[in-house]
Amino acid sequence: MRICVVGAGYVGLTTAATLADFGHEVQCVDIDHVKIEGLSLGFVPIYEPGLTELIDKNRKDGRLRFSSQVKESIRDYPVILIAVGTPPKEDGSSNLSSIHQVVEIVASTIQEYKIIITKSTVPPGTNEWIYQKLVEMGLDEDRFDIVSNPEFLREGTALWDILHPNKIVFGTKSDRPIKVLKKLYARGKAPYIFTSLTGAELIKYASNAFLATKISFANEMARICDAYDVDYADIAKGLGTDPRIGRHFLKAGLGFGGSCLPKDLSALKDSATRKKVETKLLDAVMAINDTQIEHYLNKLGTVLPDLAAKQITVWGVTFKPGTDDSRFSPAIALIEQLIQKGSHVHTYDPMVQLQLADVSSFADQYESVNHSDVLIIATEWEQFQKCNWSEVKSRMKGAFILDTRNCIDGKTVRREGFIYLGVGI
Ligand code: UDX
Ligand code: UDX
Repeated sequence: MRICVVGAGYVGLTTAATLADFGHEVQCVDIDHVKIEGLSLGFVPIYEPGLTELIDKNRKDGRLRFSSQVKESIRDYPVILIAVGTPPKEDGSSNLSSIHQVVEIVASTIQEYKIIITKSTVPPGTNEWIYQKLVEMGLDEDRFDIVSNPEFLREGTALWDILHPNKIVFGTKSDRPIKVLKKLYARGKAPYIFTSLTGAELIKYASNAFLATKISFANEMARICDAYDVDYADIAKGLGTDPRIGRHFLKAGLGFGGSCLPKDLSALKDSATRKKVETKLLDAVMAINDTQIEHYLNKLGTVLPDLAAKQITVWGVTFKPGTDDSRFSPAIALIEQLIQKGSHVHTYDPMVQLQLADVSSFADQYESVNHSDVLIIATEWEQFQKCNWSEVKSRMKGAFILDTRNCIDGKTVRREGFIYLGVGI
């Protein structure tokens, strides 16, 4: 199959590389010329385990190409997969301007029958809008099919997720594109879920909203555990063994961040509100998430009431481990609050050197703690769990560790003389 993937971001690039690896002929296009030039020379702009190798292999085999000729590529390929960003606006709704741009190009270039697949996360009704827009712009309904095919990949494990999906969702307006769609992915045992365009859009939002709900539930439970001196890890274990609940997404911590969960939750709320549907549960999920940082700072305040002029090292900048993505990272929100309180902040992250006024970023994990009063672990990178605690202790001035991800062994660091504060302990 000949596929043009529009957008070489996290989703577009990983999808393009895997589709090429499945044997399709893939052209990945982006309006960002610099990005495309780099990709054409083998430079992959994001960190995603295995992605560079997969792109190299498929580029060399001639199945994957990169181009900034967006218009020409959209015109020349029979299957168009849209993976441009849909970032949040100030009011929480989705900014669909990139989607609109792509639709305009499709409408102005289409000559032969095309299947247009929306992979980007878009609010309910968007794919219906695309359909109507193309018809309004004079396109005959026989010339195209619109498909909503949301992506469920997680950054850091994106390739594994695409290769081992637990479902493949296609929203369509008719059965016409289904035969072709079934040839798109190697699905293993994953079931196909065929639904309407809007149904598929809502499956994606419902999934992310449910995951966010589990996390906020975990965080509220951890607060209750804190109040009763109970280790939340035991509660998570007890909950997770019940198959009706499941063990995933029960980790308490600084809250959910990244470019998907927070944005999708606000976009879903916005979509509901437009139809006058109340979202009490979603509101509570967001409210808990929005106060997680405050909760941890209050916790630190019980042992160190005044953070002004204190030197605080924050380990972890990315929104979760295994990625170089720090968009909407709770770690950065925490750092900003520490600065507001007058603390001197040092940071270290294995993937990212944070560029923020009043923050000193270090390339070395151990140097970053020199003379610090407090060490806060904001992202659960594996190397933090395995570090040399006596060296950390000898370099620090104070002895406080606030582990907002419960990722290090409290007993070990207490033996080294630290005062350890964890989640729900
Ligand atoms: C994706 C999805 O598309 C988004 O809807 C989902 O919720 C999260 O994942 P992501 O891959 O993270 O977004 O986006 P980003 O990394 O910002 O990349 C988007 C790419 O599209 C950029 O490289 C941008 O230059 C490109 N783009 C944007 C185009 O090629 N054409 C446009 O008109 C606009
Ligand atoms: C998410 C969805 O998981 C994925 O299906 C969708 O396609 C895109 O959005 P991603 O944003 O890559 O993926 O990250 P995810 O692993 O879901 O983590 C999101 C945030 O939740 C992170 O900040 C993470 O630290 C936090 N989290 C996750 C918790 O606080 N506790 C958990 O138990 C799990």
